[in-house]
Order: sequence, then structure tokens, then C-alpha cells
Amino acid sequence: MTDDQTTTSPDLSTTAGKLADLRDRYHEAVTASGEAAIAKQHAKGKKTARERIEALLDHGSFVELDEFVRHRTHAFGMERSRPYGDAVVIGTGTIHGRQVAVYAQDFTIFGGSLGEVAGEKIVKIMDLALKTGVPIIGMLDSGGARIQEGVVALGKYGEIFRRNTAASGVIPQISIVMGPAAGGAVYSPALTDFVIMVDKTSQMFVTGPDVIKTVTGEDVGMEELGGALTHNKVSGVSHYLASDEDDALDYARALIGFLPDNNLAELPVYDAEVELEVTDSDRKLNTIIPDSTNQPYDVHTIIEHIVDGGDFLEVQPLYAPNIVIGFARVEGRSVGVIANQPNVMAGTLNIEAGEKAARFVRFCDAFSIPILTLVDVPGYLPGTDQEWTGVIRRGAKLLYAYAEATVPLVTVITRKAYGGAYIVMGSKQLGADINLAWPTAEIAVMGGQGAVNILYRGEIKRAEEAGEDVAAVRTRLANEYTYNVASPFLAAERGELDGVIEPAATRVAVVKALRALRTKRASLPPKKHGNIPL
Ligand code: HXC
Repeated sequence: MTDDQTTTSPDLSTTAGKLADLRDRYHEAVTASGEAAIAKQHAKGKKTARERIEALLDHGSFVELDEFVRHRTHAFGMERSRPYGDAVVIGTGTIHGRQVAVYAQDFTIFGGSLGEVAGEKIVKIMDLALKTGVPIIGMLDSGGARIQEGVVALGKYGEIFRRNTAASGVIPQISIVMGPAAGGAVYSPALTDFVIMVDKTSQMFVTGPDVIKTVTGEDVGMEELGGALTHNKVSGVSHYLASDEDDALDYARALIGFLPDNNLAELPVYDAEVELEVTDSDRKLNTIIPDSTNQPYDVHTIIEHIVDGGDFLEVQPLYAPNIVIGFARVEGRSVGVIANQPNVMAGTLNIEAGEKAARFVRFCDAFSIPILTLVDVPGYLPGTDQEWTGVIRRGAKLLYAYAEATVPLVTVITRKAYGGAYIVMGSKQLGADINLAWPTAEIAVMGGQGAVNILYRGEIKRAEEAGEDVAAVRTRLANEYTYNVASPFLAAERGELDGVIEPAATRVAVVKALRALRTKRASLPPKKHGNIPL
């Protein structure tokens, strides 16, 4: 554009002039931030809102809405600066050719803060996503409620939270936190299904370091308090720690590939030729379980040998790694995988693992994604810490989630399945459809060593008095118990298992089970809603 064109106002009495005026206004809207603010954003390693949308969506698919919206505030001289679009960019577009709705807060304008009209824009795109049944992806980068607008700004958050809640279980909701999310503003991402954070450049906290210092005297930095690593590893608020913004956007795109558009839509189906004979790769599973039951192994290997192409998109890998959750495909169709991880804390269940898996089961169930559960769990983690922080109430969530699930449930017990943990991990009695076990499975009230301490107390005492090798007696009795009581064939004899299979046959068995369950219909008694222990 020449200097002449920038300074000359178009002749609005002509059509050409009106079109030129539109182009001018559009140019003003997309460049509203100004070069200095954009440079400042880039210097922090952050993209602008429009750059993020461009990188997230299929190239050229973005259709913007409300680019001409302006705020109406007069407080604090705000009327002197009324940039087009205000502090958020909204619109629709596609990911892998499928429609999605997006919003991206624009930190280069009023620090991405949420006032009346920015709030109205987010509400508008959420309503559109809900009405059209498509996933919504929010990119957050904001100083929170616009301080100049007071209660009006707070009210908009309330409207957003109500829509997040209404949309829960209806359309997938993904939040990508790419800058600050402070105060009550954190509760919009918290209400969504997946929260992705970018390492070093995103922070979430309800009260910041200064307030904490004043109220409690604690000294804590922004990153330690609410950075991406903290929320992925410690709090479990976030589901993926992205190394940079591109990684965050790629993860969101990959996630969308596994999800249906809404709770009534079919799952996406990808082309996949599935071998129905046992392959050499399948046979590798025959040697994965060590002879010693106390020796760990990595459950990822089992998952990768069962699912299409070994591709597994793990969710929350850094939080409660004693349980593994994530998405994969079997015969080109999405499945949610939940697996105890013997490599971490021997795969025991604790509060964090239970809550992590429970939320995942409920997500999969809400969106009709079948669940494959791989079980190798010695039980719940013992200790006063667990009991006093509510393992009873909070551990019940996973039971509740499985018992309530009506999607196809396929469970494979690879090794230990003891006590309450056997029941909770997708057991037949909780409603699983196809339950299989490997011959290495041990299913009992407790492990052999624990059972011997209770059942054979007298015998051990006698051995002690007789000067026998007590450890050897213990091991013999424990092995007898495991063989006689914990054998998977006892469970199979009673129909508690539908079959005992060679590990090598698992992939084909899972393919066939999911085929058989594709037409599954199940329903719960009518109710307003249940009362999951929270
Ligand atoms: C209005 C805001 C703003 C806000 C930032 N800005 N936050 N304007 N309302 N909430 C403006 C700044 O004045 C500045 O304007 C520009 O955005 C960039 O901000 P900087 O401070 O220069 O950026 P930076 O140094 O990167 O610091 C970012 C920040 C800081 C850490 C987010 O701006 C900050 O602490 N903001 C206030 C955060 C906050 O307390 N928000 C309220 C939370 S409570 P100029 O014109 O100078 O460029 C909340 C309640 C929600 O949100 C309740 C829901 C129920």
C-alpha cells in the first residue's frame, strides 16, 4: 500500500469506494496489535493469536468471525483505544479436513485480557461449536479479567464456565495454554477435556507468587508455582508438556484425529489392513513377562504390539506414571488404552493413578471410544498418606467410572490382578464385555507372600521351631497358593474370564473382540445425573 492510499479515505458513495473501505478496515483489524507488540510477543518465543490459528488449522481453512468487534468501555480513558477484534480471535476451520471451532486470546492487545466483548466473542464461538457439534480448541494467553471492566468481565467468565460445563461430554474441548492463565480464568481450561501447556512460556495459578508471599509467607517463583512442568508432573492439571508452541499445536491436531466430532457422531475411521494371523511381531509378547513375578517390564511394549502401527498417543505421561493412559487405533478405529505400569511403583494403584484413569474412562465413555484395559496390578498403595488423603473416596472414582461405562470394554490380565485392584481394573463384574488373561496371570485376594502370612501362620511357626529354612517354606507355600488359588484357569473355569490366551494371540483377539462389540447397546437407569464421589 502506498502512502497515498493510506491517507486517502475511500469515496463511500461508490461501490469501489465501499470495497476499498472494507479492505482498509480488514487490514486494520488483522494488524491491530502493531509491530512493536508483535515483536515483543515473538521475543518471548510466542506466536501471535493469528499465527497460532494458522499453524493449528489446515492451511487456508480459517474463517474468522467478529473481526470488527470493538469494546464499548469508557472507564480509565479506554475509549481512546478501540482496536478491531479486541483481545481474542475466533472462528472456524478444519483439522485433518474435519470442522473445528477455535479461539485464540491475543496478548498483543490489552494483554489478552477478557472484557465484555472479548467474553462475548468466546461465548459466541462456544455456542456455535455446541450448536454444530464440533470440537472447540481454545488457545489461552491472557492477563485474566480486564481490570478496567470489573464485574462485567467477571460475569463473562461465568458465562464461559457455564458453556464449558454444558459442552462437557457433548463436544470435545481442548485448551492450549500458551501464556499466562491467572486467577479464576484457569477454571475454563480446568473444565475442558484436555489441557496442553508449553514449557517455560505458560503458567496457570489461582493466586500468584506475590499474593502467596503476602498471605502465607511462602516464597515461590512463577514457573515453580504454575509452570508447565509443575502442572504436568505435580498437580495433574495438564495433560501434555509441549516443548514449544509447534509441539503443542501438533499434539492438539493428533488428539483431534482420535476423537469424534461430538457425542452422537461416529468415530473417525482410518484405512488399516489388519493381519488376522499371529505374526512374528506378535510372538515377541510371549517373552515379555519375566519368570520372576517381582521383575518389572515396560507396559508400553505390550501396547505397541497390540495397536495399529505401534502408534500410541499418551495422555498425562508425566503424572502418576504408575498408570498409562492414551489413544491408539485398532483396525483404524480409536481406542482408549488404560494400563498399569509395572515399571513404576510396581504398577500399584494410588489416588493420583485412580483419578487420572477415572477421568479418562469417563471421557472415552462420553464419546463412545472403546476401552482396552491391560492389567498388572499388585494392589493399592498402602500407607497413612493414602488413607488420610482419601484413597477410599477418591479411589472409588475409578470403580464408578468403569461401572458406569457403556462403551465396549475389553480387558486383558497379563500378570497380577489382586484384591480390590482386580475388581477396579475393568473386571467382568464391573461390566467389562470381553475379559481375557495370559497364562502368566495371577488373580486372587492377595499375592502369595501376603496370603501365606495369614493362612499358614501356624505352619511357619512350626517350621521356625523345628529350625527349618523358613524362607524356603514360605516360598514353597506362596508358590502353591499362587498355583492353586491364583491360577487364571480357576477364573476361566467359573466364566469370570472369557478365555486364557497366549500373549502372541492378543492383538488378533483384541481386533476380533472390538469387531464383535461394535454393535454393543447398553444403557443405565434413567436419572438426572449420578453422584460420583468427588
Ligand atoms: C487489563 C491488562 C491485564 C488485565 C495485562 N494487561 N493484564 N490489562 N486487564 N487483567 C495489560 C498490561 O497493562 C499491559 O498493557 C499489557 O496487558 C501487557 O502486560 P504486561 O504486564 O506488560 O505483560 P507481562 O510483563 O508479560 O506480564 C503479564 C502478566 C501481568 C503477568 C499477565 O500483565 C499481570 O500480572 N496482569 C494482571 C494479572 C491479573 O492479576 N489478572 C486478574 C486475575 S483475576 P500496556 O498498555 O502496558 O501494554 C481474574 C479473575 C477471573 O482473572 C475470575 C473468573 C471467575
